[in-house]
Amino acid sequence: MQKHPITKYRPAPQVNLPNRQWPTRSITKAPIWCSVDLRDGNQALPIPMSVEEKLEMFDMLVEIGFKEIEVGFPSASQIEYDFMRRLVEEKRIPDDVTVQVLVQAREDLIRRTFESLQDAKQAIVHLYNSTNPTQRRVVFGLDQKGVLDLAVKGTQLVKDLTKEVKGTKIRFEYSPESFCLTEVDFATEICDAVCDVWQPTVEDKIILNLPETVQISTPNVYADQIEWVCQNTKWRDKAIISLHTHNDRGTGIAATELGIMAGADRVEGTLFGNGERTGNVDIATVALNLYMQGVDPGLDFSNIDDIRETYERCTRMDVSVRHPYAGELVFTAFSGSHQDAINKGMKEQQSKSADEQWDIPYLPIDPHDLGRSYKAIIRINAQSGKGGVAYVLEHEFGYQMPKLMHKEVGKYINKIADERGDELPPVLIHEAFLKEFVDRDSPIYLKTIKPGKVNGTTTLKLELVIQGKAQVVEAKGNGPIDALVQALNKVGQGPVEIVSYSEHSLGRGAEARAVAYIEVKTPTVHSCFGAAIDTNIEKASLKAVLCALNRTKAD
Ligand code: KIV
Ligand code: ZN
Repeated sequence: MQKHPITKYRPAPQVNLPNRQWPTRSITKAPIWCSVDLRDGNQALPIPMSVEEKLEMFDMLVEIGFKEIEVGFPSASQIEYDFMRRLVEEKRIPDDVTVQVLVQAREDLIRRTFESLQDAKQAIVHLYNSTNPTQRRVVFGLDQKGVLDLAVKGTQLVKDLTKEVKGTKIRFEYSPESFCLTEVDFATEICDAVCDVWQPTVEDKIILNLPETVQISTPNVYADQIEWVCQNTKWRDKAIISLHTHNDRGTGIAATELGIMAGADRVEGTLFGNGERTGNVDIATVALNLYMQGVDPGLDFSNIDDIRETYERCTRMDVSVRHPYAGELVFTAFSGSHQDAINKGMKEQQSKSADEQWDIPYLPIDPHDLGRSYKAIIRINAQSGKGGVAYVLEHEFGYQMPKLMHKEVGKYINKIADERGDELPPVLIHEAFLKEFVDRDSPIYLKTIKPGKVNGTTTLKLELVIQGKAQVVEAKGNGPIDALVQALNKVGQGPVEIVSYSEHSLGRGAEARAVAYIEVKTPTVHSCFGAAIDTNIEKASLKAVLCALNRTKAD
């Protein structure tokens, strides 16, 4: 890289728009969406989609709810042409969906494009030519007038051929390609010249697509460019202003959102941002950004995992694990404080009525709305806190541990995660919990219990195995736990004090068992928890006392 001063590059020019309105606007309705997955997306794939893969993608785009789909560049190759024909001949295009075909402003290509549309019910012919100074000079060797003439001639031919078409309703889209790099007054002039030829009406508008073909500026500059055209074109009320952003600076989504605020009516883009170089704008993200602001996007991503799977299989592209909404890890919190806050937020949300608004820390959208589950939200590694472990044990396995026990269990599980140096999946957390806090039957093992009652006093006959030696002991108390404490004193394993006790059922119906949690105190251990599970609640509580006591005796 060049060292300071950087002379190799220059800042993008600003737009002179002192009365710009977009910064104080907000988006209150969804734009018209047009998927360009099968054209801009497909042309950018190292291995382009096969016809079968394109058909599968097309069906999925229709299912998501796209009403406008750019299906290819039929004049560019036989495969693209055949794909368009298959859609028509196999009657795969629903009546409420319009297919769009791209074509350069060249006579032979325009004629071939029209041939590909035969018998389609409706179609958008999308004509483009590059308008920016560098391409005018380097690629075409034309001045502004020459480039304007190309657009006008192309439009005239599309208009003439449209008149000859029978049975297909043709709409027209014009793109001054590389609009964002073109002088904004010239881009407006060329759009107006195209409109002068096409003569759009309020009922039958032209689509003026203003692409950010290569991003070179901050997104506010693109928004200014869009608002400039909206304010200055003679044809604003007869034109649908369309955005088409790429992502060279990583701001395709931001530019699109600001462009909508600046007055655009329509957005072209792809699922998950596939497309040339860094990709086109990711329509799934723009749509779900609207949804989580309370705006109906008109696109259905309620099964985003399936959509991602089909997309990845057909395009051979990967969706990053951090990709907004669709990435594998985006509903997962690793940090303890995040886990704790999510856990508390979920509890509060569940206690509210179903129509209450979503308000959970660190989860701006309900994963269930996208067909994703809460289960993967919390995963445990060494940085996780007690709240995360308690969350996993409760939500995956049903344990509602007393609050004071969370800390002891959390510390123990984190130590294991630390030693492993890796994330602990829920089953391993459960195994470790059972091993340390439930299945502790050494040095004292409870073989049998025979409870009874004499004059309102509880009696217990216990068969214990202490350090491998069987002993039978009988004791009385004001309840089974008290009787057990007396029995332990008798066999020299006391004193033990019960500090807290709680229980709940685990599972439902005939399969239900009871789980008891006990906190004990001994002369040497201030507080220690144990738990036990049994079909009999009394037995569970006695086993839990022994489990806690056994834990105090561990090295
Ligand atoms: O990025 C672009 O400018 C394009 C045009 C053809 C609309 O894809
Ligand atoms: Zn593009």
